Amino acid sequence: MKIAVEGCCHGELNKIYEALQHAEQKQGIKIDLLICCGDFQAVRNQDDLLCMAAPEKYRQLMNFHEYYSGKRQAPILTLFIGGNHEASNHLWELGYGGWVAPNIYYLGFAGVVKFGGVRIGGLSGIYKHHSYHKNHFERPPYDSFTIRSAYHVRSCDHFRLKQVSGKVDIMLSHDWPRGIEHHGNTHQLLQWKPHFRQDVDSQSLGSPPAMDLLRYLKPLYWFSAHLHVKFPALYEHDKGQSSSGEVKSSNCRQFTKFLSLDKCLPRRSYLQIVDVTMDTVEEGPYKLTYDPEWLAILRSTEQLMCYDNSRWMEPFGKCCTPSLEDLVYVEHTLFRGDLTIPTTFECTAHTLGETPKPVVSGHPQTERLCQTLDISNPFKHDRDIIVSVAAGDVSNPDEISLDDDEVAMVSSNPDEMPQDAGVGGWVIDTAGKNRTRLSLPPPTNQPESHDQSHDSAPVSHDQPREEASHDQPKIKRRNIALYSMPAQSDDEEDT
Ligand SMILES: [Fe+2]
Repeated sequence: MKIAVEGCCHGELNKIYEALQHAEQKQGIKIDLLICCGDFQAVRNQDDLLCMAAPEKYRQLMNFHEYYSGKRQAPILTLFIGGNHEASNHLWELGYGGWVAPNIYYLGFAGVVKFGGVRIGGLSGIYKHHSYHKNHFERPPYDSFTIRSAYHVRSCDHFRLKQVSGKVDIMLSHDWPRGIEHHGNTHQLLQWKPHFRQDVDSQSLGSPPAMDLLRYLKPLYWFSAHLHVKFPALYEHDKGQSSSGEVKSSNCRQFTKFLSLDKCLPRRSYLQIVDVTMDTVEEGPYKLTYDPEWLAILRSTEQLMCYDNSRWMEPFGKCCTPSLEDLVYVEHTLFRGDLTIPTTFECTAHTLGETPKPVVSGHPQTERLCQTLDISNPFKHDRDIIVSVAAGDVSNPDEISLDDDEVAMVSSNPDEMPQDAGVGGWVIDTAGKNRTRLSLPPPTNQPESHDQSHDSAPVSHDQPREEASHDQPKIKRRNIALYSMPAQSDDEEDT
């Protein structure tokens, strides 16, 4: 099974699918699934744009609306989690997950599904301490505060994911598990992103609940995005504990392969194809199915959930992990033995050029799922709404700036294009050539004598490490200006 992983998508679906089709043709492979690790921007129309927290200049429709309206069809089954730049009103209606367009599935605030037998879980949003213990109280219309807090990770979702007892193969989070940078080449990371140093030194980079889940679930893979840099790491788990925390006598070493990818931009390492060979992979053709344990957890925890603006109270010492009987009841009684996620998709909002539709109270997909599970739908509009938000800039000073990502890297010089370049330099797993500028030594009279050695990141064969220093560019006359510039952070350089 071949799974393509994308970092931050930022609405660039056309480019991503184009790059994947290019790779399929060039390598003679078939990619079975695309996973996007957030900032997907499922923006259907101008109203959705008003519900996306981003600086004014980044509030653009981008590509998704074409897939929503049916003008384009996603050529590869696509699975995604939310990040911190999303049409939060749209994703909120599908809080338990659902199709946002044909062949494009959202995992929900938190969720677990199966694809061809591979169990994939995810946690949407980013961690902010001040929102973490609150309920999911935000709903459209948003104000200038809730438009940002709507995508903050919540303890109730963390709790739900910790009720999972079986093995999870792949986990996704938008921001990184807290401290994961210490399990890879931290030195190189800080060369590329020197402004991370303070957070790295103070152990405050990334999400504590994500790291807690990584330690608890022990997935084989953990994919993330958000920090706009490719970074692999290898996390070795404590011996003697299975995924779910159960103590085992085995001395087997267990690892989680972590990989974060960049934002979708030319010459950046934003895509990686992973060959998944674990023994849970079933015979093809692969199907996307509900996970019975996760569905049973939605049922067993429903009474604990609250949706007002108060603190969510974790039940002390209470375990909501479903029993085997619960799983059998969900699969065979409620779902009549067929956990295939129905592909019925219907547009509930207008797209470009259409007359605005009245907002539906509850999204049909969420309604159907809740009815089947015999739980209530908490993601319903409780009054007629006009989707709106305080006008103006809703950028969040606490978050990663998007300004490190201008497209100034596109080169018209064929000598500077990567070997595997597709149209316009949109490629898979490029070597991040722009990054090498940060590690180049000052110019000397012997430019060929650079020491190209570097620390090795502990990564597996299917997570090739960044090769920035492998193709250290020779110093060209036209690049001399780079060396006369004062040292700049990556962000400043690209802005
Ligand atoms: Fe992000």
